[in-house]
Amino acid sequence: MPESVCVTSLLFAPITLRGMTARNRVWLAPMCQYSATDGLPGQWQLVHFAARASGGFGLLLTEAAAVVPEGRITPRDVGLWDDAQTEAWRPVVAAVQARGARIAVQLAHAGRKGSTYHPWSPVQGTVPPEDGGWTTVAPSPVPFEGLATPAELDADGIARVVAAFADAARRAAEAGFDAVEVHAAHGYLLHQFLSPLSNRRTDGYGGSLDNRARLLLEVVTAVRAAWPEERPLLVRLSATDWSPGGLTPEEVGEVARRLGPLGVDLVDVSSGGNVPATAPVGPGFQVPLARTVRRISGLPASAVGQIDTGTLAEQVLAEGSADVVMIGRPALADAAWPLRAARDLGLPVATDGPAPWPPQYVRGAPA
Ligand SMILES: Cc1cc2nc3c(=O)[nH]c(=O)nc-3n(C[C@H](O)[C@H](O)[C@H](O)COP(=O)(O)O)c2cc1C
Repeated sequence: MPESVCVTSLLFAPITLRGMTARNRVWLAPMCQYSATDGLPGQWQLVHFAARASGGFGLLLTEAAAVVPEGRITPRDVGLWDDAQTEAWRPVVAAVQARGARIAVQLAHAGRKGSTYHPWSPVQGTVPPEDGGWTTVAPSPVPFEGLATPAELDADGIARVVAAFADAARRAAEAGFDAVEVHAAHGYLLHQFLSPLSNRRTDGYGGSLDNRARLLLEVVTAVRAAWPEERPLLVRLSATDWSPGGLTPEEVGEVARRLGPLGVDLVDVSSGGNVPATAPVGPGFQVPLARTVRRISGLPASAVGQIDTGTLAEQVLAEGSADVVMIGRPALADAAWPLRAARDLGLPVATDGPAPWPPQYVRGAPA
């Protein structure tokens, strides 16, 4: 591909974070597949991620991987809490890297939103212990609507969460992941601590924004110490709770501003999930949130959410709202979404460069 063609697209320009370069800025958003047993990724993950690496993504975020068994959203989630899982991730990581893409694992703890049935189960709600469920934990014994009341984490429990994130990061390094993302969005444990709507604590982890952010900052510090210096660390945040009395983009931007000095390289800006709320959904609806958090934090940012054309993705970068775009649902049914977007933006069909068509697939490229 001629160099002059590559540089006309921001979306298909490489990006370097620490020692990692991704070939482009179209990244696969993390999406639970609910297809694991005992937290082990298997053939489903191998095929799913390898196909999307062949489909041109620059970097793939895995689905949320639990750092402890009780940190799973459903009993069918993947994890990184034991060494068998490290081994099981290795071939998935290798398959993605062999196709020229990078892969980051999203480390997560579901807190009070754990122990639920997977979305297509005929039964919904909290999974009882006799069906493989567990007692969930949270900053405060306040349930998420429709789910069981969680147990309040005590100081030892909090320390165990911090250590579990660090241990999982160590395993991620052994499995060969290029980057790690700490999941602090969508109403999962770290977001539950951040938001006054779910955190009613009166100790050093509740009350002021400083206190509510304490667990996230401790987790990030511990993960950074356990994670190789040359590999990047990302954090996903919900920039708003979309609810009165909840987190605002300015507050979340302030939290993100404290992450840079701790060694975070990019903030992945999403929204909502902590309480039932109506978000003003529509094409690119979370882009202004990414712009705000990026501005306040001074960190590189990614935007996600109904960015469903290459033209819109390119615009998000061109207007300076974000440095990277993540694609979720459109990539479920279309593994080669980036290759299609590259064609829409006028890039030629090439078997190398930032949007490389596998030679096996070139005859299927749009004219
Ligand atoms: C099936 C499915 C599973 C998801 N699982 C996760 C997840 O594990 N971690 C996460 O941070 N977001 C998760 N999300 C949210 C996506 O990463 C993304 O932010 C959201 O779908 C909006 O982007 P989109 O409009 O491009 O789909 C999930 C979304 C879907 C549709």
